[in-house]
Amino acid sequence: MEKIETRKDVAQVLHMNGGTGETSYAKNSLLQQKAISLTKALREEAITSLYLKKVPRILSIADLGCSSGPNTFMVISEIIKTVENLCREMKHKESPEYHFFMNDLPENDFNSIFKSLGSFKEKLSDEIEAETGPCFFTGVPGSFYGRVFPTKTLHFVHSSYSLHWLSRVPQGVENNKGNIYMARSSPSNVSRLTMRNFKKISHHFSSLVQKS
Ligand SMILES: C[S@@+](CC[C@H](N)C(=O)[O-])C[C@H]1O[C@@H](n2cnc3c(N)ncnc32)[C@H](O)[C@@H]1O
Repeated sequence: MEKIETRKDVAQVLHMNGGTGETSYAKNSLLQQKAISLTKALREEAITSLYLKKVPRILSIADLGCSSGPNTFMVISEIIKTVENLCREMKHKESPEYHFFMNDLPENDFNSIFKSLGSFKEKLSDEIEAETGPCFFTGVPGSFYGRVFPTKTLHFVHSSYSLHWLSRVPQGVENNKGNIYMARSSPSNVSRLTMRNFKKISHHFSSLVQKS
C-alpha cells in the first residue's frame, strides 16, 4: 500500500520545467527534438498507411508525454502536412478534421500549449499556403500507464522520449548504489531486472494503447 502511494505521488508532481524561460523544457529539449527528426520517416509511413486504409472523417491522434514547447507542435504539424499532401495527391474534396489529444502528467504546463495554439495555427497555414482541415486540441492529464482514453477513441498514438519514464522502480535493484539509472558500474542484476520490468511495463502499455 505504501509503495502504491509513493508511485502515485511521483505521477502527481513530476513535470518538465514549464513556460518559455531560459531553464524551461521548451528551451532545453534539443536532444529530444533530434529524436523526433530521426523518426520522421517512420511516422510519415505509419500515418500514410493508416490514412489510406481508413480515410477517417475525423482523424484522432494522441501524443503521450507531450510536455510543452516546440517539440509538441513539431509532431502535430508534421502529421497535418503529411495528411494534407495525401489528400491533395488523392484529389480528396475535403481534408479530415484533426482531433489532437495532448497527454501528460497533471503538473505538465498544458496552459503553455493552449496559449501557443493561435500562433501555431498561423505558422502552419503560412507554411502550407492552403487551408487545412479544422484542428481541435484536447489536454488529457493523467498517466499513460492507466486508462486515459475511452475505448476505441484513437486512430494514431504517438510517444517520443517518454516511455523510459517507468511506472515503477524494478524490485530487487536496491544494490544499485550511487546511480539513479542503469550505469556501467551497476551490478549485473540491475540490467536483468530492469529489462524484465520494462518488458512487463511495455506489454501493459501496449494493451492499453490497443484498447484506445
Ligand atoms: C522528456 S519529455 C518528452 C516530451 C516530448 N514528447 C518531446 O519529445 O520533447 C517526457 C514527458 O513524458 C511525461 N511523462 C512521464 N511519465 C509519464 C506518464 N506516466 N504519463 C504521462 N506522461 C508522462 C513527462 O511529464 C514529460 O513531459
